[in-house]
Amino acid sequence: MSDTEENSSGIGTPAQLISIIVAAFVFPVTIVVLLAQLASGGISLDKDDPSLSAEAITKRLKPVGSLVLASASQQADAKLKKDVGQAVTELSDIATSDADKVKVVYTTSCAACHTSGAAGAPKLGDKNAWAPRIKSGNDTLYNSAINGKKAMPAKGGNVNLSDVDVKAVVDYMVSQAK
Ligand code: HEC
Repeated sequence: MSDTEENSSGIGTPAQLISIIVAAFVFPVTIVVLLAQLASGGISLDKDDPSLSAEAITKRLKPVGSLVLASASQQADAKLKKDVGQAVTELSDIATSDADKVKVVYTTSCAACHTSGAAGAPKLGDKNAWAPRIKSGNDTLYNSAINGKKAMPAKGGNVNLSDVDVKAVVDYMVSQAK
């Protein structure tokens, strides 16, 4: 009787028992993995699939947040700063025409007060503020700009400016107020 029972269950030897245990474990796991792959669309054997392209694979294999990227963006930053610096230098080289130079000098040395009207400075282009000053004559205005007047320091505080440059800017300011 016991022989028949053993045969009907199919387990006769310890080796059979082990293979059935292994099969009972591997089989469902394989099914679950295959189903998961199918559901996530992970299985693709199509050679033209873009996700199987060399780039896509390299990208997937790349370390996350690599340092290479950080240093690349730093290099880009440095290059940008260099380029901007160069552009500024080139611009001031180009600004050798008198009209451009005057505007550069105005912007760097006078605009802080004369564009905002800070400390009671006559604003650029404000005819009413400039009219009485213009009446006092160019020499007076040159003298005030070169040597300073009340709240205005000599040469707007930029002692490196030549008298000629300061006078040119005064002419420019006067021309804007007419
Ligand atoms: C720190 C602020 C400041 C800066 C910078 C400055 N100014 Fe003035 N400027 C003034 C003030 C304030 C007045 C009015 C002075 C007053 O009459 O009370 C004035 C007045 C003037 C006047 C009229 C002077 C007069 O006799 O009526 C001229 C011209 C002038 N500035 C030119 C310049 C030029 C050119 C520069 C740049 C090189 C410059 N200023 C930079 C504050 C400034």
